[in-house]
Amino acid sequence: MGYEGDPMRLLFEGGLAPTHIFSAYYRWLREDYAADAVLHFGTHGALEFMPGKQVGLSDKCWPDRLIADLPNFYLYAANNPSEGLIAKRRSAATLISYLTPPVTRADLHKQFAELRSMIDRWRTRDPRAHDTQLMPLLEAISAQAERCELSHSATPERIVDAEPWVGELRTQLDEIETALIPFGMHVVGAPMSSDERAETMSAIAEAGGAKEVDPLRLDRLLASHDRGALQAMLTESAVAADKAPELADRLCDAFENLAKECELPALIDALDANFIPPVSGGDLIRNPESLPTGRNLHGFDPFRLPSAFAVIEGERQAKQLIARHVADSGLLPTSVALVLWGTDNLKSEGVAIGQALSLIGARPRFDSYGRLCGAELISLSELGRARIDVLMTLSGIFRDLLPMQTRLLAEAAFLAADADEPLELNPIRRSALAYQEKHGCDLDTAALRVFSNSEGAYGSNVNMLVDSGRWDDESEFADTYTNRKGFAYGRAGAVSQQTELLNEVLGNVDLAYQNLDSVELGITTVDHYFDTLGGISSAVQRAKGDSVPVYIADHTGSGDGKVRTLDEQVALEARTRLLNPKWYESMLDHGYEGVRQIEAHLTNTMGWSATAGGVAPWVYKQASETFILDEDMRRRLAELNPVAASRVANRLIEAQERDYWGADEEQLEALRRAGEDLEDLLEGITGEVAA
Ligand code: BEZ
Ligand code: MG
Repeated sequence: MGYEGDPMRLLFEGGLAPTHIFSAYYRWLREDYAADAVLHFGTHGALEFMPGKQVGLSDKCWPDRLIADLPNFYLYAANNPSEGLIAKRRSAATLISYLTPPVTRADLHKQFAELRSMIDRWRTRDPRAHDTQLMPLLEAISAQAERCELSHSATPERIVDAEPWVGELRTQLDEIETALIPFGMHVVGAPMSSDERAETMSAIAEAGGAKEVDPLRLDRLLASHDRGALQAMLTESAVAADKAPELADRLCDAFENLAKECELPALIDALDANFIPPVSGGDLIRNPESLPTGRNLHGFDPFRLPSAFAVIEGERQAKQLIARHVADSGLLPTSVALVLWGTDNLKSEGVAIGQALSLIGARPRFDSYGRLCGAELISLSELGRARIDVLMTLSGIFRDLLPMQTRLLAEAAFLAADADEPLELNPIRRSALAYQEKHGCDLDTAALRVFSNSEGAYGSNVNMLVDSGRWDDESEFADTYTNRKGFAYGRAGAVSQQTELLNEVLGNVDLAYQNLDSVELGITTVDHYFDTLGGISSAVQRAKGDSVPVYIADHTGSGDGKVRTLDEQVALEARTRLLNPKWYESMLDHGYEGVRQIEAHLTNTMGWSATAGGVAPWVYKQASETFILDEDMRRRLAELNPVAASRVANRLIEAQERDYWGADEEQLEALRRAGEDLEDLLEGITGEVAA
């Protein structure tokens, strides 16, 4: 069954009961229809987030009252074990995993492809050509880069200076071309097409360390079952000889598993009361062991998180973040606001937790059985730099799933605040002592750095404010955010409302930061990224009276990963997803829901403008040209989903009214006319989309 609107909305309303319709429907299922079992489809639902206790629910908790003793089978995305665990804990669900969409390279479209061919012409230029012959080509490249809205420094005046300048543009094109994007949607019961499977397999190979894999060649080798040739190809693609056999195994297994359809048979098995075998949830590309789907997702051993790998990898990634900030500003950050979610930590064995500990200069402590039991400081001499004050904001889901790790992080902050160290090397202690002096509280309070919602509440509500359009001033986001997220979690697990402390700590923050969860979920795919990272950015801006850089770490693909600024990430997603015909046509192939996805990406983009800035005007301009001012496209969208089509037009007008893109009068007028046509269509006045 489905639920209209944002599934978590009811829950976000705090202690309210579900609507009458919602609870009456479950009562009808149980008592009148007398169902033997219930099937929930599709992840991040409503039932399991209804008010009540987090675990060990009683008959006073809404999820339990609604589902009672009905067997609950839940078709669930294989890459979202964290919310899946909540469905298991709070609504006794048996999860049946389904595949995420195939991934593909974004490729270069239209003006980018033209720029690429100009750059190719530059690279194959005749070495004897005279500067005056080459200058026009350089100028054409510059003009085309301008049309593509690529950032570049001034065009060199002399040909001898041109090589690095062209090289920089080419690097940007490479990033766009090779970015992985989800391709359409997964249809339950339909295995991937062979093309989709080939592209997905090459992404798995690249995540396993192979470089520049040709999908068709890999596909042929996998289909031929020629192990020797496959291993030879992997070593040719820069995979170490001792790693190639293992990667070849993974690829062969994944290839076979992707050809099978296991999800509908598993659903039938569940209804036949058969056993559904377990599997740990993960991203297909980094963790093809999550195949075959059609299995019951489980989590992790909480005593072993963060793993030894996550501590080492978290340190490496923390260094990457620091290096990026130093490169941009010349300064070592003294205070960082870090957003932590459950999903990526569950899938990576706690790498983001490792990042937080590394920034503070701490590590996990394990007892003699190897079970997590707390934090310990790394000495300043071993750390080799000043500690960093880390404000850690947890999603409600992280808080529910990782209580031990919540205490671990709080303990790390406390130990740092309590360390007898020079204040210039320990900003946590410096700011905690200052707060203590000002407010006369104990050190335990002044050292609180782990914030989340009050118990039983989730999300910051910033997403709903943006979605509703009912806000006047950006400072409203800061209020909404700090009201919702002003609850501090201490090293003993106690929670207390500390909005004033939160505001004080926000006022010191030098940068805000979050990790991407997976290839499928960009920061403009779902509204939760701007809800959490955008929300905290607006809160920092208000507390400081100035904006700070916002960074996104992308470790979802192959290689060392990358730290991008918010502007870079939004631009990349606009180019590879929202404005990329390969992406939006793959969405429109799915009709009604595809238009809704386009609308969601646009609204989420505006969520970034509203909370953190970071969206260049060309994104809105090109979105309006692509989806609304293009008559054929407008008609297609309206035929597939008139409500979402009309929302696209209105969102673009709203973005202009809020001064996010500087449309000229003519564009705005055209948008308004198109918007009115769509409204008329919705109201059935004209019955068709006016030309
Ligand atoms: C989480 O796992 O923490 C999370 C998942 C989806 C949305 C927001 C948070
Ligand atoms: Mg939601």
